Amino acid sequence: MPSAPVAIFPGSFDPLTNGHLDLIVRGSRLFSRIVVAILVNADKRPLFTIDERLAMVREATADIANIEIDSFSGLLVEYAARKDANVLLRGLRGIADYEIEREMAAINRRLRAGIETVCLMASEPHLYVSSRRVKEIAGLGGDVSGFVPAFVTKRLRAKLQEKDSI
Ligand code: PNS
Repeated sequence: MPSAPVAIFPGSFDPLTNGHLDLIVRGSRLFSRIVVAILVNADKRPLFTIDERLAMVREATADIANIEIDSFSGLLVEYAARKDANVLLRGLRGIADYEIEREMAAINRRLRAGIETVCLMASEPHLYVSSRRVKEIAGLGGDVSGFVPAFVTKRLRAKLQEKDSI
């Protein structure tokens, strides 16, 4: 009987949302170890720096024992191989996510045989939560407290003020 594998939970986490956090908690119960791998976005222009995103995930997951928080650049399958992991964990909110995840899962399996993508259905309260919408709403002065941890709301406010003052 194989033991529960190590899973990589990759993403941009710009910023971490309650939806991400829900998946991290659920993933940490399913797998022996979960590695949250934050993409150092070379072509996108993230709102938060990689260090800020790492710090937010670390702070929100401080009470989870079997977790590692890391960053990566380059191919995800190569990163997973370096971490000795064969599972990629992703969340599915709806059909639009499904199309994207199916494509990425197929490409990743072409790139590295044996890599498996495991998708968890988003929990009902998080079905419409995305980092993109959170940034949009916060940027327009809306309340994002239902979508992200309280300390992320504060950091979003500070970041947007910092940007406004430039
Ligand atoms: O949070 P996101 O933006 O949905 O995460 C996307 C991510 C990081 C999983 C994806 O962009 C990725 O794996 N990037 C690494 C580059 C790569 O391996 N590309 C080929 C596989 S599709």
